[in-house]
Amino acid sequence: MNVVLGVSGSIAAYRAADLARELMRSGFTVTVCLTDAAQKFVTPALFEGLTGQPCLIDAFEEPERGRMAHIDLARKADLLIVAPATANTLNRIAHGIGDDMLTTLALAYEGRKLFAPAMNPSMYANPLTQESIRRLEETGAVFVQPIEGDVACGENGQGKLASVEQIAAAARALAGIGRQWAGKRFLITSGPTQEPIDNVRFLTNRSSGKMGAALAQAALWMGADVTLISGPSNSSLPRNAKVVRVRTAQEMLQAALAEAGGADVIIGAAAVADYRPSNPFHGKLRRTAEMMALELVPNPDVLAEIVAHSKPGALKVGFAAEPNDGLDYARQKLARKGLDAIALNDISRADIGFDASQNEITLLLKSGSTRTSGMLGKLECALWLLAELSNL
Ligand code: C5P
Repeated sequence: MNVVLGVSGSIAAYRAADLARELMRSGFTVTVCLTDAAQKFVTPALFEGLTGQPCLIDAFEEPERGRMAHIDLARKADLLIVAPATANTLNRIAHGIGDDMLTTLALAYEGRKLFAPAMNPSMYANPLTQESIRRLEETGAVFVQPIEGDVACGENGQGKLASVEQIAAAARALAGIGRQWAGKRFLITSGPTQEPIDNVRFLTNRSSGKMGAALAQAALWMGADVTLISGPSNSSLPRNAKVVRVRTAQEMLQAALAEAGGADVIIGAAAVADYRPSNPFHGKLRRTAEMMALELVPNPDVLAEIVAHSKPGALKVGFAAEPNDGLDYARQKLARKGLDAIALNDISRADIGFDASQNEITLLLKSGSTRTSGMLGKLECALWLLAELSNL
């Protein structure tokens, strides 16, 4: 597989060297294209040495006499990645400007595009930049969103280039997937719930919402319309999903029921609190010397309720987080909740499941058969799961 890696002029340009290596380890042949500004930070020699391919810098370059390099490359590439993508480069590509090698190549290129922006947080939040991102997404481009943190200019906010591993995982995923779920409506519950004890304290669990967000992203890439009902989560949620943010199990249930009847595929990935304080205190509970008992009442089973309100023929999938071998519990849950399949996570392992960036799933089907994903990043795991479900 041939990938063109466009590097634009951000301080994060140095990280494109690691990305090029990671892409090569994944089996891609990598040709790097540097903008003028990128060359202020990194040199063609660096990338030529790393990739063994000529590095493109000049739109009028003709390594083969009489052949236009930007057209040749655009036809040969299976994937175009721009990482880091600066505001200037994003805005130019989004508006069809072709005034250097990278932007002319992007104009001529008809395949899958992946952008990983990196810039000052205000430049990222600027409505003009956001509008460009939206335009590019409408043409099918995929974004690995920047993360929050300290950026090189000394400010703090969303603007740091995503991790090399994340960008490479998205590239592998994009190169391999089809649009099996085009036209289908997904309803996904995700994240933990918070059940108030008083106005400042609550019961919750260790769910990060990463798996639900990965499922939503994977479904979008595979062509689906996605509604994501998310409990409180710091994970970045895909922009193109309809996101409904909720806090408690009861709010999650209400939001889910409003969508249940229209969904073709229902995935319950939320870690819903099984119980809630029966009578949350209004205000702040004060410390006393006495023992205190907290009375809990059971929460509704959100997924079972969605299933009960789903349309005939909808595909219904749950998750089961179990310590050790939970296959028997998973079987019981599948039957009790009326599911077609359940994805089992072994939470006795620290390297997968709750709050980890990797996962390993055993998918148990209604028929009783099982299959295992192997250890994967959550995004790749989500793609694996949705590919398996599309074959049912
Ligand atoms: O908690 P349990 O192991 O039964 O969860 C299995 C599945 O049921 C998960 O998909 C979870 O999202 C869903 N669930 C739910 N509402 C609950 C409990 C679990 O939707 N109250």
